[in-house]
Amino acid sequence: MDYFSESIRQAIRTVPDWPKPGVQFRDITTVLQDRTAFRKLIDAFVHRYHGESIDAVAAVDARGFIIGSALAYELNAGLVLVRKKGKLPFDTLVEDYELEYGTASVELHKDAFKPGDRVVLVDDLIATGGTMLAASRLIRRIGADIVEVAAMIDLPELGGSAKLREEKLPIYTVCAFE
Ligand code: PRP
Ligand code: ADE
Ligand code: MG
Repeated sequence: MDYFSESIRQAIRTVPDWPKPGVQFRDITTVLQDRTAFRKLIDAFVHRYHGESIDAVAAVDARGFIIGSALAYELNAGLVLVRKKGKLPFDTLVEDYELEYGTASVELHKDAFKPGDRVVLVDDLIATGGTMLAASRLIRRIGADIVEVAAMIDLPELGGSAKLREEKLPIYTVCAFE
């Protein structure tokens, strides 16, 4: 693990049995409220994509917005919001995905990208990978090119990052909790 990864990992708070028994909740608020950790977090992503030609950062509602907006600003790229269903006012595309119980949906404006746009898709965390997979399908449906799917935290035991790799999506995660 590199310098960025270890210090960011240490700044993440783990809350056991929240929101329900058996879940180890990885709380990013402790990173965000620590000026040094927050800067390192954004710098890790900026460093990763610096010098690449990135047209847009697509960020997932809600925690992904926090990282995505700072990253888009630093990369001089556009910021595209992948929102939970029912929040976007114009014409949209929708993708449904499985949750542990039931389903959820993410939505994207149809005019969010031009075909061939080079996009980094960002969220805070990959668990089952359902959210990132649904978001990446939306982006591909518009014809944009996903340079990488990027997250602060990978939970590899939940299989999400492996599932994304099976879909031929390149992945970058800053740190992992095995
Ligand atoms: C959380 C997290 C990721 C997603 C990961 O979002 O922020 O977006 O779950 O889970 P998955 O890999 O199994 O799909 P959530 O919608 O719970 O909350 P948020 O609105 O605070 O981002
Ligand atoms: N989203 C899904 N699983 C999570 C976890 N263990 N911690 C924080 N956010 C999550
Ligand atoms: Mg989320």
